Amino acid sequence: MTGERCRVAVLASGTGSNFKAIAEACRDASFPATVVCLITDNPEAGALGHASALGVPAHTVVPPTKKAGLPAETEQRIADICRRYEADLVVLAGFMRILKGPLLDEFAGRIMNIHPSLLPSFKGLNAVQQALDYGVKVTGCTVHFVDHSIDGGAIILQSTVPIGDDDEPDDVLERVHGVEHKTYVRAVRLFAEGRLRVENRRVLIAREY
Ligand code: GRF
Repeated sequence: MTGERCRVAVLASGTGSNFKAIAEACRDASFPATVVCLITDNPEAGALGHASALGVPAHTVVPPTKKAGLPAETEQRIADICRRYEADLVVLAGFMRILKGPLLDEFAGRIMNIHPSLLPSFKGLNAVQQALDYGVKVTGCTVHFVDHSIDGGAIILQSTVPIGDDDEPDDVLERVHGVEHKTYVRAVRLFAEGRLRVENRRVLIAREY
């Protein structure tokens, strides 16, 4: 990718605030990546509105099941779209489906996800509520590479937020979202600059010269 901008395909199912943050960062010509497409499994996704406003081509691929696990044919269709756009990196931004097949295999080591907790704590759904119920004083977000595990891939970046005694779930969620956007943009930049190297479970970040 030296000299060229990293081509990013984003997969999102919902509001799309992380998609928007990344796509907006990519509008800056000095940013080393460009968002080439949005793919969603949800025709009602807020992300579609952001894509239209930002001029990003969008594709809706509705799986024949509501289950989180994607049928292989659907995952193959998504992989085909990513390939058609010559994506270098696939970014999951609130994509509520589990990848297991063709996309994961074809883009191994080139798929990132963001999770609203400090992994490995509070994997799965409702991570902020899990953190509150457990009583932790600090939570945050994690950007990680995606592998065959659930929320278990090598960790690229983490950011923390405090939890106060009077906080409601929505307060913490808003705080986590605030750090997610910056953290995800930074992770995409590091990948695009070729500065991430995985050694066993550790993602090493090369210094900027
Ligand atoms: C984020 O909290 C992210 O951590 C989780 O899904 C949420 C997506 O939010 N994986 P948005 O659609 O980007 O606003």
